[in-house]
Amino acid sequence: MNFNLSEEHIMIRDAARDFAQTELLPDVIERDDNQHFPKELVKKMGDLGFLGIMVDPKYGGSGMDAISYVLIMEELSKIDASASVIVSVNNSLVCYGLEAFGSEVQKQKFLTKLATGEFIGAFCLSEPEAGSDATSQKTSAIDKGDHYILNGTKNWITNGGRADVYLVIAQTDRDKGSHGINAFIVEKGTEGFHVGPKENKLGIRGSDTHTLQFNDVKIPKENRIGEDGSGFRFAMKTLSGGRIGIASQALGIAAGAYELALKYSKERKAFGTEICNHQAIAFKLADMYTDIEAARHLVMKAAWDKDQGNNYDVSSAVAKLYASKVAMEHTVEAVQIHGGNGFVKDYHVERLMRDAKITQIYEGTSEIQKIVISRSLIKQ
Ligand code: CAA
Repeated sequence: MNFNLSEEHIMIRDAARDFAQTELLPDVIERDDNQHFPKELVKKMGDLGFLGIMVDPKYGGSGMDAISYVLIMEELSKIDASASVIVSVNNSLVCYGLEAFGSEVQKQKFLTKLATGEFIGAFCLSEPEAGSDATSQKTSAIDKGDHYILNGTKNWITNGGRADVYLVIAQTDRDKGSHGINAFIVEKGTEGFHVGPKENKLGIRGSDTHTLQFNDVKIPKENRIGEDGSGFRFAMKTLSGGRIGIASQALGIAAGAYELALKYSKERKAFGTEICNHQAIAFKLADMYTDIEAARHLVMKAAWDKDQGNNYDVSSAVAKLYASKVAMEHTVEAVQIHGGNGFVKDYHVERLMRDAKITQIYEGTSEIQKIVISRSLIKQ
């Protein structure tokens, strides 16, 4: 067992760290305040290969492994989780979904542009009444021979107003339950497809989240992804990889807050010494470091499982469950260590605390991760 990163992995991590410090950090507070989508920065991340990290170079991707993906995600998320969720959704839900399950025509037409950042993608599963209970889709797609007619509403869609390509999950045969679901590619601007108002969120405010409405949208049959009835398995498998991305986002948020708290505690003085010398603070730092290291090992294990071709449904759920808990708990501690300064925007930790919460909600709540994990334990 080798815990060392390779020289290549270190280079990739350092490139992401450098990009986060020089490009993401300067205006991160302004983007959060004004819910400003980082359009120019997304373009730059595309140029660096961050939008198609694991995609085969023959489709325009960077051809890197999942370990590289989590290293990049951690570094971006330390500074700006709004930017990193764009990266995560594009990589693990949209690019992976198309590369693993799409036809060659779909890959040539859409994946090649998504992997380079020319296009941005969105993944549309959640509905007003079907978030965790993913089989209860109300959105329907009726088979009309050479095309489908899509009707319904999707909620909380990341990149919702900015995407060029939307992967939409819909019921095609209600009687067949999870086997009567399909995934479709819907292009921006298709007649009957409307983007609703932008959500005003607690955290990841620089990301673009919308409700989407589909009214009699005509989808050519060649835009169905995979075999008829494979949409639920498509969504579940894709979300397993997505959970590695969000686990690494949570890890980055926690590590970013810890690094800020450590630095602050070595500078701020109280009762005649730097506050890190007080046990009340020192013990917090030790707990933060320990839990973040544990989360990093779980995230790396899930990424390693993916790279090895092992099943990663459970390891990704474990990593997401734990890393998101650590992110929530320790961003609160980072604010506490900063005292009054932690409660104002300039010190960054209050934003990290707000951003941490979503990692316990999207791509499956913590309760959903426990369902995935416990079902597998009981089956053994
Ligand atoms: N891979 C392949 N197949 C899978 C699978 C996986 N990981 N998980 C389940 N399946 C298959 C099962 O084998 C089963 O197939 P058979 O009927 O042939 O046996 C079928 O799918 C149904 O499985 P379940 O009976 O386990 O399904 P369920 O209805 O009990 O649901 C669940 C299980 C874990 C609760 C699931 O619904 C789930 O993960 N829900 C959460 C959904 C979610 O993460 N939503 C987030 C939205 S996306 C988002 O947040 C994106 C964004 O913008 C950031």
